[in-house]
Amino acid sequence: MSELSQDEAFLTLYSDLAREGPGAPADLGWALSVAGTPATARICDAGCGSGADTLTLAKERPKAQIDAVDKIAQFVTAAQKRTAPFGDRVQVRQGDMARLDGPYDLIWCAGAIYFIGIGQALRAWRPALATGGRVAFSEPCMLPRPSQAARDFWSAEYAQITDMEGIRDRVAQAGYRVLGENLQIGAAWENYYLPMERRIASLRPGATPTLAAALDQAEAEIARWRAAPSEIAYALMVVAPE
Ligand SMILES: C[S@@+](CC[C@H](N)C(=O)[O-])C[C@H]1O[C@@H](n2cnc3c(N)ncnc32)[C@H](O)[C@@H]1O
Repeated sequence: MSELSQDEAFLTLYSDLAREGPGAPADLGWALSVAGTPATARICDAGCGSGADTLTLAKERPKAQIDAVDKIAQFVTAAQKRTAPFGDRVQVRQGDMARLDGPYDLIWCAGAIYFIGIGQALRAWRPALATGGRVAFSEPCMLPRPSQAARDFWSAEYAQITDMEGIRDRVAQAGYRVLGENLQIGAAWENYYLPMERRIASLRPGATPTLAAALDQAEAEIARWRAAPSEIAYALMVVAPE
């Protein structure tokens, strides 16, 4: 294999994964219920990746219109293939999730809002919400009393990481109120890390130095999580504009 750029190494690691961050269909069902998303809703999956949740949204709300957007062409193509059986009811496009048209009854954003920041995303999405519209998003969250090792590792990965209170503060400062919150621990992370471990093992033989470095980094993250899975979560927040 000839040497890859860092972006190519990243995309090689992530190609063929069912999802690109922690998550579980049951949590999405919970969010739809807390948000009161109607059967015929218009929904956006913002930062949809390869479309794991786009698929669940289409199944959970069989009469809804679903738009999905991601900036990476490879993920968009994968999501389009997976959702093709739903026809025109599901539209996946390449684009910037900070620029949504709407009006949406629900903007769903799993493991992607941190690319923009909670405050900036919630402010940008407000004009794209229908009357009574909601946003549901997941955001990395330090659980109470983390070890220094966990705090150091996760804040090196994501400098803006906070605890639950910090997430609530950012929601309030953006002019939204919390309708429900749910901590994703355990199964949601296994759904992401188990397939990734298999992918890492399959790519190890013959990996170029850049790819090997990407595999090492992903392995270190999984090892850190396995060492202390109760120190880090994704907080799933359902919020509404004030
Ligand atoms: C950690 S992945 C999560 C993907 C998916 N929601 C899931 O849970 O499997 C984050 C995704 O956000 C996308 N992303 C980041 N910034 C974006 C932006 N400004 N516009 C659209 N997509 C973006 C990335 O390309 C990536 O697919």
